[in-house]
Amino acid sequence: MATAAADAAAAVPDARRWTKAGPSSPVTTAIFLFFFVVVVGVLVSARWITTTTHLAITNLDQWRTQPAILTGTYTTSIPAIPAGPPPPRPTYSLSCSAPPLARDPDIPSNISQTLSLALASNATCASLPDPQPIPAAAAANATCPAYFRFIHEDLHPWRAAGGITRAMLDRARATANFRLVVLRGRAYIERIAPAFQTRDLFTIWGILQLLRRYPGRVPDLDLMFDCVDWPVVHADEYQGDNATAMPPLFRYCGDNETLDVVFPDWSFWGWAEINIKPWDALQKDLSVGNKRVRWIDREPYAYWKGNPEVAAIRQELVKCNVSSKQEWNARIYKQDWIKESKAGYKKSNLANQCTHRYKIYIEGSAWSVSEKYILACDSMTLVIKPKYYDFFSRVLMPTQHYWPVRDDSKCSSIKYAVDWGNSHKKKAQQIGKKASKFIQQELSMDHIYDYMFHLLTEYAKLLRFKPTKPPEAVEVCPESLACQAIGREKKFMQDSMVKSANVAGPCNLPPPFSPEEYRKLQQRKEKYMDQVETLERNASKLEERNASKPEDSNPEEQNASKSEERNASKPEDSNPEERNASKPEDSNPEERNASKPEDSNPEERNASKPEDSHR
Ligand SMILES: *[C@@H]1O[C@H](CO)[C@@H](O)[C@H](O)[C@H]1NC(C)=O
Ligand SMILES: *[C@@H]1O[C@H](CO)[C@@H](O)[C@H](O)[C@H]1NC(C)=O
Ligand SMILES: *[C@@H]1O[C@H](CO)[C@@H](O)[C@H](O)[C@H]1NC(C)=O
Ligand SMILES: *[C@@H]1O[C@H](CO)[C@@H](O)[C@H](O)[C@H]1NC(C)=O
Ligand SMILES: *[C@@H]1O[C@H](CO)[C@@H](O)[C@H](O)[C@H]1NC(C)=O
Ligand SMILES: *[C@@H]1O[C@H](CO)[C@@H](O)[C@H](O)[C@H]1NC(C)=O
Ligand SMILES: *[C@@H]1O[C@H](CO)[C@@H](O)[C@H](O)[C@H]1NC(C)=O
Ligand SMILES: *[C@@H]1O[C@H](CO)[C@@H](O)[C@H](O)[C@H]1NC(C)=O
Ligand SMILES: *[C@@H]1O[C@H](CO)[C@@H](O)[C@H](O)[C@H]1NC(C)=O
Ligand SMILES: *[C@@H]1O[C@H](CO)[C@@H](O)[C@H](O)[C@H]1NC(C)=O
Ligand SMILES: *[C@@H]1O[C@H](CO)[C@@H](O)[C@H](O)[C@H]1NC(C)=O
Ligand SMILES: *[C@@H]1O[C@H](CO)[C@@H](O)[C@H](O)[C@H]1NC(C)=O
Repeated sequence: MATAAADAAAAVPDARRWTKAGPSSPVTTAIFLFFFVVVVGVLVSARWITTTTHLAITNLDQWRTQPAILTGTYTTSIPAIPAGPPPPRPTYSLSCSAPPLARDPDIPSNISQTLSLALASNATCASLPDPQPIPAAAAANATCPAYFRFIHEDLHPWRAAGGITRAMLDRARATANFRLVVLRGRAYIERIAPAFQTRDLFTIWGILQLLRRYPGRVPDLDLMFDCVDWPVVHADEYQGDNATAMPPLFRYCGDNETLDVVFPDWSFWGWAEINIKPWDALQKDLSVGNKRVRWIDREPYAYWKGNPEVAAIRQELVKCNVSSKQEWNARIYKQDWIKESKAGYKKSNLANQCTHRYKIYIEGSAWSVSEKYILACDSMTLVIKPKYYDFFSRVLMPTQHYWPVRDDSKCSSIKYAVDWGNSHKKKAQQIGKKASKFIQQELSMDHIYDYMFHLLTEYAKLLRFKPTKPPEAVEVCPESLACQAIGREKKFMQDSMVKSANVAGPCNLPPPFSPEEYRKLQQRKEKYMDQVETLERNASKLEERNASKPEDSNPEEQNASKSEERNASKPEDSNPEERNASKPEDSNPEERNASKPEDSNPEERNASKPEDSHR
């Protein structure tokens, strides 16, 4: 593993699997993730300031304008529930009748042998009884979070094309790692090409947990899943008559030029290789870790820790690090996973990384799983303009949930963001708070399962054929996977196992965006981006002017620059001790006392009531 990873670090991370055939390329690309995603990460793209009109909040506008012509499709076979008292809530436990099968030492450690063994022990699940269905009508009396509306966006192209045919599905096979067929609540897997590490194993594990959470309610379906980082279904290849060939392909992220359907990534059930535990538990740890240092007592700089080797943009970020010659307000650290794994992951504990007022998210070779960990900290997240989106990130608003940073001139953009935050502490805290609240409330495991449920249900409605078990597919169930797993994989599976069905049912799927709503959302995002662009531009103008002619004779500008200086030098900021806050004497109790007056501001207290309650 260590060797493969080290080799990968030296490679160029932009090999697109689409252009290659066969299983070798997913593997190559996947290796990068091991390196780049680290304990940290965010969203990016190029020439942000000049391209704000191209915000990628959905796949492609052109698909939206097409009417949905889908009428009747194949209907799925969910067993009828007899009327009468509700059945007791099914509960689950894990019992393995035999020890795991012997492992083959010749199989590379960068692919999941557990999945191979589970597929080889193909009789394990057959003896288990059919899941006991829960009432099909049950629905929690709550509307799902707004990001669920993008389910409609992602599936719209196929709705507009009249549904999903077998021919479309077959085309998606070209790059898929596995095919999943669900029939009457049972899952069948055909492994097409092993994925990198345990991505396929834990993605399938997550789907099996969904089947247990809502027994009998996930409709019959047949889908192709690609575990490689980058989206590959280029929209411009499927216009006009070519729409009939459009492959429906599931993966973890998308961008504004592709039609891949986004699905929660494996890390929600754990990333065994780098000891990132299942999200349910990690989310709780983060919530506790977040309370350890109050925002005002955190270091007043922007923090990033990750693997810079995986992408050029990350190497550029490293150049913004503080040194004796420069101060861009950035504190950049390298994560060395090989060293960490030897040292027992003591320095990669995500819950101990809520120590700075600002945290940077930067994409690696594609989206980064670290996004949720960074946003969970109450620190204002500085998002370096992203190119990719995952299933939840399209609802995040600049200056509301995060602060946008240019992808060119990163260092000065970061410096500006930190200066802005330190002179608008209340607003910066509100932004940090809004993001961590979003992560805690809208990104709970309950919502992850409901997202999967609605996505798969809406997808299944589009199928124009009746799913059947392919001869190559083997039934999988929690027992067949977990009983072959060993070590940390097994622990993560036990920890993330759904222990009982949710009879309350899923939240209610909100409707698609109307064209008007969609446009407004886009405009709002653009407006906020423009505001930051203007602020940043003004600030750099002022600085330039100051540098070139200190005694600016233009009175208007003088006034402007005066008022800005006044703002920048509010009492709290002029405290010299505060400026030195990141130094070891940071823990100086005097510093903490110094920041009190601000907290006693009644306005501030009102605005931040909820957060104060758990300090
Ligand atoms: C596993 O590593 C080998 C080389 O060590 C590489 O050739 C192969 O592509 C990798 N497989 C995956 C799935 O990453
Ligand atoms: C997608 O976004 C990039 C910038 O990230 C932009 O250059 C490109 O024009 C956008 N494409 C579409 C189809 O909007
Ligand atoms: C299980 O696998 C064995 C050998 O791999 C094969 O002969 C058998 O047909 C499989 N059974 C099922 C139900 O797929
Ligand atoms: C849903 O909740 C609202 C208020 O929270 C309540 O008025 C309504 O009766 C509930 N509906 C159902 C079907 O339980
Ligand atoms: C349709 O697909 C063919 C083959 O991939 C391609 O040559 C052609 O340009 C596509 N047409 C459109 C309108 O995208
Ligand atoms: C960034 O600077 C800090 C402080 O000098 C240092 O500890 C750290 O190793 C540097 N990071 C990188 C990636 O060089
Ligand atoms: C930026 O500068 C322009 C003109 O120089 C001015 O009209 C505008 O109000 C300024 N905006 C901010 C947010 O300071
Ligand atoms: C402008 O220049 C003066 C003296 O050179 C310096 O003290 C001040 O910090 C500068 N202001 C800005 C906004 O750069
Ligand atoms: C500058 O500010 C002063 C008072 O602060 C005001 O009297 C004057 O009109 C302003 N000048 C300009 C050009 O805005
Ligand atoms: C100064 O701060 C006030 C209140 O926070 C704000 O309304 C004003 O626009 C700021 N002025 C400048 C020049 O940043
Ligand atoms: C910051 O700390 C250094 C020592 O670490 C000290 O020499 C300097 O005076 C301090 N600056 C301020 C503004 O307090
Ligand atoms: C901080 O304030 C508290 C009470 O407000 C006081 O007891 C304590 O001595 C102060 N600490 C310092 C270092 O000034």
